[in-house]
Amino acid sequence: MSQNQKALFIIFGGTGDLAYRKLYPALYKLYKKNYLNNNFAVIGTARREWSDDYYQEIVIDAIDDIKVSDQHAEEFASHFRYQSHNVKDTENYHTLLNLANALDEEYDIGGNRMFYLSMSPSFFGTITSHLRQEGLVTEDGFNRVIIEKPFGTEYENSNELNNEILESFDEEQIYRIDHYLGKEMVQSLMTLRFGNPIIKNIWTQEFISNIQVTLAEDIGVEDRGAYYEQSGALRDMGQNHILQIVSMLLMNEPQSYNSEEVTKEKVNALKNLKLLDSSNIKDKFVRGQYTTSPEAPDLLDYLSENEVNESSIVETFIAGKVESKNEKWQNMPVYIRTGKRMKGKSTRIDIVFKNSDSSLFNTNDLSNNVLTIHVGPEEGLALQLNSKQVGHVFNTEPISLDYNVETSVPDDYEKLILNALQGDKTSFVHWEEVAASWKYIDAIRSAWEKDPSDLFKYPINTNGPKEAYELLEKENHYWVWE
Ligand code: BG6
Repeated sequence: MSQNQKALFIIFGGTGDLAYRKLYPALYKLYKKNYLNNNFAVIGTARREWSDDYYQEIVIDAIDDIKVSDQHAEEFASHFRYQSHNVKDTENYHTLLNLANALDEEYDIGGNRMFYLSMSPSFFGTITSHLRQEGLVTEDGFNRVIIEKPFGTEYENSNELNNEILESFDEEQIYRIDHYLGKEMVQSLMTLRFGNPIIKNIWTQEFISNIQVTLAEDIGVEDRGAYYEQSGALRDMGQNHILQIVSMLLMNEPQSYNSEEVTKEKVNALKNLKLLDSSNIKDKFVRGQYTTSPEAPDLLDYLSENEVNESSIVETFIAGKVESKNEKWQNMPVYIRTGKRMKGKSTRIDIVFKNSDSSLFNTNDLSNNVLTIHVGPEEGLALQLNSKQVGHVFNTEPISLDYNVETSVPDDYEKLILNALQGDKTSFVHWEEVAASWKYIDAIRSAWEKDPSDLFKYPINTNGPKEAYELLEKENHYWVWE
């Protein structure tokens, strides 16, 4: 079967940062591998007045460090057209329709359309209803809408947003991107959990003490202060990436590997999370904000960042204890944490196993067995075991069995775009997952809003405020990654 995919991409937000940094390189990688060759075209749209030539130059620039040759890059870019577009102006959709139909014919695309919405969600409803009403949705091919986060800022408005989109497209046609679901080791989670009897059998609260999900970043909010002021770490990373990972750690084994079965189990896991409120929030969640550090005198504290309110109480760090109502996981907390300006960039999941009684050893001399899933920047696994110290002694010492993914891994966007072209929704987020995640996050947010006093400062280049450590220490747990 030919792997060549036929599709016309219409990108709303074609001049944006995401398109430049992620989409054009991802499309080019698919082109290099022949998933896209002659039967594709891209229309970039945005408010700015750009010519096709200028747009193609931008595309070539975006793939500069991965191009095979200048000529190959130019061939690729020749599939790109630009249309200056006001999303509220019906006339503009008529022009878009003509261009789309012409490209469809020129490249023999067969009516397959991918509408990529990479702009403010406040426009999603307007765009999708115009696409339907002005006839951009074809009869003869597939029509899929790819949506970038943030999908709303709370359950209520994300539900409204979803309903607006559903007026024009079915859930089946909607592909909500969470780029973490395109990460190799996140995609490996199900294989690791359910494809290995030795892991599957001990993935229980009887053997696991706790699980830790860390999404640490060393960067600050960069030039996204205005956005971040509305989101904070809880919405920016918690509602999506972290809860997606948590759902895969706590899900039951799906009946088969298809999007319905996988979604069903993820939704169950998310709906089972224990919601927090003001009576328990302080015991379970900590929030922080980065402040200057003598060790990094050149870096600004959050309050001095561009477009950030100087008395902002927006959190740049969260740590929390996530618990499930499912009896299977009652005693197996998942600790999560994420933050900006932490010690380093590290995305990892640590499965901390319990120590058992031993007649041979004092349990204090044994380290916990820990299975670490390195999601990024390095990808791989590490299993920490106890071993005998080498030599004339019978002391124990921890050792680590390591596996690093060495083959070149397709990047998140490349994988997800190919999945969307192939109609495989397994690595996309279903509305019910979004809804359940927002309900969990909204409860935390509203408890915090009632009491804004507990925002703890942490110096740049640390792993959060001391309260984030106490959260675990009071339960005799400790963060594996310090
Ligand atoms: C995005 C957040 O979703 O994920 C950013 O909006 C964050 O704030 C980014 O920096 C992290 O992604 P990655 O792939 O670099 O871990």
